Amino acid sequence: MATLKLVSNMNTRISLAAITPTVNLVRHQHCWWSHVEMGPPDAILGVTETYKKDTNPKKINLGVGAYRDDNSKPYLLPSVLKAEEILKSKNLDKEYLPISGLAEFTAAAAKLAFGENSRVIKEGLNATVQGISGTGSLMLGANFLRDFHNGPKEVYMPTPTWGNHIPLFKKAGFAVKQYRYYDPKTCGFDFNGALQDMAKIPEKSVVLLHACAHNPTGVDPKPEQWREISKVMKQRNLFPFIDMAYQGFATGDIDRDATALRQFIDDGHQIALAQSFAKNMGLYAERVGAFSLVTASKEEKEKVMSQIKIIIRPLYSNPPIHGARIAALVMNDPELRAQWLKDVKGMADRIISVRTKLRDGLKREGSTKNWQHITDQIGMFCFTGMDKDQVERLTKEFSVYLTKDGRISMAGVTSGNVDYLAHGMHSVTK
Ligand SMILES: Cc1ncc(COP(=O)(O)O)c(C=O)c1O
Repeated sequence: MATLKLVSNMNTRISLAAITPTVNLVRHQHCWWSHVEMGPPDAILGVTETYKKDTNPKKINLGVGAYRDDNSKPYLLPSVLKAEEILKSKNLDKEYLPISGLAEFTAAAAKLAFGENSRVIKEGLNATVQGISGTGSLMLGANFLRDFHNGPKEVYMPTPTWGNHIPLFKKAGFAVKQYRYYDPKTCGFDFNGALQDMAKIPEKSVVLLHACAHNPTGVDPKPEQWREISKVMKQRNLFPFIDMAYQGFATGDIDRDATALRQFIDDGHQIALAQSFAKNMGLYAERVGAFSLVTASKEEKEKVMSQIKIIIRPLYSNPPIHGARIAALVMNDPELRAQWLKDVKGMADRIISVRTKLRDGLKREGSTKNWQHITDQIGMFCFTGMDKDQVERLTKEFSVYLTKDGRISMAGVTSGNVDYLAHGMHSVTK
């Protein structure tokens, strides 16, 4: 009615035209995102949120995958601190990096992974770019494979795997499938299961492998098992995508932790590799990482490199500089590198020692369960074998926070809280 009246009057018709866009704007403002539903909270970061709210002074956060010292404090590596001092004294500018990142960093990262004397390095076959830590480097790889992989758009992952692997590859258009990895009966590696599954994976599929310190299980294949896996994958023409987020952090020895990767190279695989410097340099928030593809020739490397850069440019244009400068200096300066190797070993050794303390503590508590896997497993995490109900009780009755799958971050265990943790774990598992 009101509209009809307005249209019949010339003066008001003008004002109607002026009003209409405003009305539409208001309507759209109200409904633009009304179809968006609440997403689930992140399984790991959600643990920390509830931990923060707990007022129990004995509470322990074993959810977070970041290293803590024996006083439960975040750890700044002495080598990294020194590198930052040196960088500060140089008054460096903050101009853009090239799309592929800081050259001194990418060269050092590749050498760290493949080894100084690697054929790949000597012949210059690696197309390596700086990535946004491990996650961003994985994403570059997934995007490159989406565009150029000449095989099924299927990626096979260990069961279980790091939670972020799955959405990451799905977002890049891959169908995510699994191969057996963790054996709940032994809390160890299901070697036969993994090989049997790999024997059935369609040729040319992508297979995701954790180079060391498998997250979330802490279970790594032995060197001779890696040899066999590499052999089977070569025979079956499967493409290895290696995620190396913990080099040095597992055994305390950067070369030993690269055993699997180097085995694959020796066996002639052309791999994809994502590296993170979050854990082994404590550079979590600096987002320092690298992505590499091994190519067959220098010419192929140049072409591959050009396409990786084309992927990066619209994503984030070029990577951040500060963390890469730190990592480059730490790896390239002989004195800092020697200090860093000590720092990494110190972190790994503390984790290894606290595993023994936890196992001893459980024994002292009178647990008759076999907890050997606590010391057999390696790296940041321990897959305890506790079920969902036991985890829930441990949180409710003892204020110990961990993910529902029974994974504990060994980095959160200290000589001060290990006995309390052992007591809690024994109470809910006896
Ligand atoms: C197996 C694995 N890959 C990759 C990452 C990536 O971490 P970031 O992106 O912090 O380097 C992590 C971190 O927890 C991890 O555990």
